Amino acid sequence: MKQLVSMEHLSNEEIYSLIETAIEYKQGKKVHKLNDTYVANLFFENSTRTKCSFEMAERRLGMQEIPFETSTSSVKKGESLYDTCKTLESIGVDALVIRHPQNDYYKELEGLNIPVINGGDGSGQHPTQSLLDIMTIYEEYKKFKGLNVLICGDIKNSRVARSNYQALTSLGANVKFAAPDEWVDDTLDAPYVKIDDVIEETDIVMLLRVQHERHDGELNFDPHEYHEKYGLTKERYNRMKPNAIVMHPAPVNRGVEIDTELVEAPKARIFKQMKNGMFLRMSVISHIIAEQQKGVLIDVAN
Ligand code: CP
Repeated sequence: MKQLVSMEHLSNEEIYSLIETAIEYKQGKKVHKLNDTYVANLFFENSTRTKCSFEMAERRLGMQEIPFETSTSSVKKGESLYDTCKTLESIGVDALVIRHPQNDYYKELEGLNIPVINGGDGSGQHPTQSLLDIMTIYEEYKKFKGLNVLICGDIKNSRVARSNYQALTSLGANVKFAAPDEWVDDTLDAPYVKIDDVIEETDIVMLLRVQHERHDGELNFDPHEYHEKYGLTKERYNRMKPNAIVMHPAPVNRGVEIDTELVEAPKARIFKQMKNGMFLRMSVISHIIAEQQKGVLIDVAN
């Protein structure tokens, strides 16, 4: 794996390999040190989980992080994304983690000689979120084939929905969507259902954040009405299978996508997803650096 920009580029074998390495990191069975490797994290959109867990992953791998803030960089003088990245490559950065509001921004970066890890592009892809979600599901069920997954909410604007739909379908899960008409995405061919018609047969209820920043205006949005129609209420939670789980990429709009008391309920895996994200990002980085600098990885656990 030379870089990671989209789940579409990953085979199922690569997905399993990334998850297995992440689980080994989590269990303390694998330790890699990349001491002489430099990384820059370029976040052109806000982030807490993705940015901080990449930073944690990089430090735990012993990498050197080159601080980069868009607000104090020459991006503010009009420097393009490509020239910014080429500059970082020129001064010796080995890998870039990038979040950007523009879909497919990474296509402009094909002239780079260093890997790009996509931390989210507009409503396009969020591959490390998808992988950490898949890792969380795998830890729960040890399989994907035949699992019923309901992805619920702002499908049209969600890079998480797109990434997870593609990957989970490829792994053999049955993915369905529930969404208000205005947030239906016709480019994805999963069936749309009503949450109340499928809640009792669903193994994984994956709620999506309402992406207010990607909506035009939206003066009519009523959070209470949304919660009642599309959110995880206590009544719906109680109708879920005993071993079913609730996921959400977060940040959570409490009381909108999910009742606030359910965020840490027994079936909820929301904070476990965040914990897994750090190990999963360690796995992604180490796989990519191993490909880039063959032989540099020293597995100091063995
Ligand atoms: N889930 C996720 O991407 O969260 P952040 O926007 O905080 O990184």
